[in-house]
Amino acid sequence: MRKIKHDVMPEMKRRFANRAIREQNIPQDTLEALVEAASLAPSCFNEQPWRFLIATGERREQLLATLTPKNQEWAGKAPVLVLTCAKKTFTEGGKDNFWHLSDTGCAAGFFILEAERRGLVAHPMAGFSKKAAREAFNIDEDLDIVHVMAVGYPGDVKLLSEHNQARNRPNPRKPISEILL
Ligand SMILES: Cc1cc2nc3c(=O)[nH]c(=O)nc-3n(C[C@H](O)[C@H](O)[C@H](O)COP(=O)(O)O)c2cc1C
Repeated sequence: MRKIKHDVMPEMKRRFANRAIREQNIPQDTLEALVEAASLAPSCFNEQPWRFLIATGERREQLLATLTPKNQEWAGKAPVLVLTCAKKTFTEGGKDNFWHLSDTGCAAGFFILEAERRGLVAHPMAGFSKKAAREAFNIDEDLDIVHVMAVGYPGDVKLLSEHNQARNRPNPRKPISEILL
C-alpha cells in the first residue's frame, strides 16, 4: 500500500492498477451495483452523460479483440470488459456538453472504487482501438468512446508475464506541493 499522510477512504489507499485477474464470473447483481455506484456521480446540469457497455460472453470476446496485444495478454482473463462512453451533447437543446468527459471520468472513478470495496479489480485501459470498438458495437456518433475497463477478482500475480509481475504494484504519486497551483 502507498504511504498516505491523511485519513482518506481505505479503498482509495488500497486501489492500484492490478493486472492479475482471475477467470471467475461476477454475479449479475454485483455488476449492477457497480453501474449504480457510477450513476451516483455528479454531472453538469445532471446530464449523466456516461454510458457503459458491460461485455460478457460473445461481446467480451468482441471487445477483447479491440485491445492492444499487451493489454490482451493480461485483460484476457477478466470475465467482464466494460466499454465506457460519454454523450457529447446535452439531451435538452442538443448543445455541446464540454463536461461530458470529466463527468464520465468521475462516474468511472465511482465504479472503480465500489469495485475495490467489493474486493474486485476494475482497471481502465486506453490501449485499444476506439474505431474497432465503435464498429463492433455500432456506437452512436454522439457518444465519445472513453476507455475499456477490465473487471474481475484479483488473481495470482505469478501467472502474469515477468514484465507485468515486476510492475504489478501501486505507482508513486507526485508530492502534493507539485499538484497545488
Ligand atoms: C485512462 C487510463 C488509461 C489507462 N490505460 C492503460 C492501459 O492501456 N494498459 C494498462 O495496463 N494500464 C492502463 N492504465 C493504468 C495506469 O497505467 C495506472 O492507473 C497508472 O499508472 C497509475 O497507477 P495506479 O493506478 O496503480 O496508481 C490506464 C489508466 C487510465 C486512468
